[in-house]
Amino acid sequence: MDESPRGWGVIPSTGIPTIAFGNQKGGTGKTTATLNSAGALATRGHKVLAIDMDPQADMTKGLGLGPGDDTNPSSPKNELPNTLVTDDANLLDVLVDNPRTHETGLSEIVIEAGEYDHLNFDLVPSHKDMGLARDWMDDASARLSLKLALEEMVDDGYDYDFILIDCPPDLSVLTDAAFIAAQNVFLAAQTQATSRDALDDLWDQLESIEDNQQIEIAIVGLLANMYRDDGQSKKFLSAFDESFASMAPIFKLPMRVAIQRAWDNGRDIFEWEDPNDQQVERELFLEIAETMERAFDKTQVEA
Ligand SMILES: Nc1ncnc2c1ncn2[C@@H]1O[C@H](COP(=O)(O)OP(=O)(O)OP(=O)(O)O)[C@@H](O)[C@H]1O
Ligand SMILES: [Mg+2]
Repeated sequence: MDESPRGWGVIPSTGIPTIAFGNQKGGTGKTTATLNSAGALATRGHKVLAIDMDPQADMTKGLGLGPGDDTNPSSPKNELPNTLVTDDANLLDVLVDNPRTHETGLSEIVIEAGEYDHLNFDLVPSHKDMGLARDWMDDASARLSLKLALEEMVDDGYDYDFILIDCPPDLSVLTDAAFIAAQNVFLAAQTQATSRDALDDLWDQLESIEDNQQIEIAIVGLLANMYRDDGQSKKFLSAFDESFASMAPIFKLPMRVAIQRAWDNGRDIFEWEDPNDQQVERELFLEIAETMERAFDKTQVEA
């Protein structure tokens, strides 16, 4: 591990290492990777902010802050509020109003880790209104909205070691805003032939953002999710390896029941004690956290 490269991540304008978890293909593990990487970085002593940019709000729900679970009355989710329906300011207000009026800042809508026992990192939740983003975020400033909002948050005194952004499964303005704010992308893919086509489109999108915005974007890692040791997976990974292995480490995560169960109970895997062994997934996400530290030349923070 120690001989691998350090410091290949791009530090964005806020000065805080920021990583967007992307892939326009649906159901590849973006949200799973975002919330469990946030949990792993927090476990290693870092102060982390996770931002849910997806109108589907899966990360907010996966941390228990969406609707409860009618089918399981004992789910810890039922005791937590549903932040998706609040009448207070929400993330869409920040992204739409802030570039024009500077009225609604991220600091107004962030849920701080100290507010809930199970939360080890701060969260900017999604909201039901985020579904209107396509209609409202239609001018040139919209793509810069998250970057500007993060710069203001840092000016307001918020300081984080890492910011992680969960992207929706598309190449919409929300995803662009996340890529521009982060300048670092962590890919979550399933190792199938169709995933290769999706990644080709994603490279094109990243290149076009680099050209248009005159910025550099780094690939920080690839999660080969629901990995199976078969020919399909090997073929996919060797194709990825050829282009990116030197800069983007690949993490293989098999199907693990406890990941789904932690999610169903509104927790990351470090906050969830499962009847099944959780060593494989916990070790993998701690390794991802270590890699993120190396990408930005940071070290674990001693408790
Ligand atoms: N390795 C895994 N083992 C078990 N369950 C998993 C694993 N990875 C993801 N899942 C489950 O699969 C579902 C889809 O994963 P996830 O929501 O993270 O994908 P996504 O890429 O964020 O989806 P979307 O594109 O809709 O945003 C979730 O219910 C999640 O709990
Ligand atoms: Mg998702």
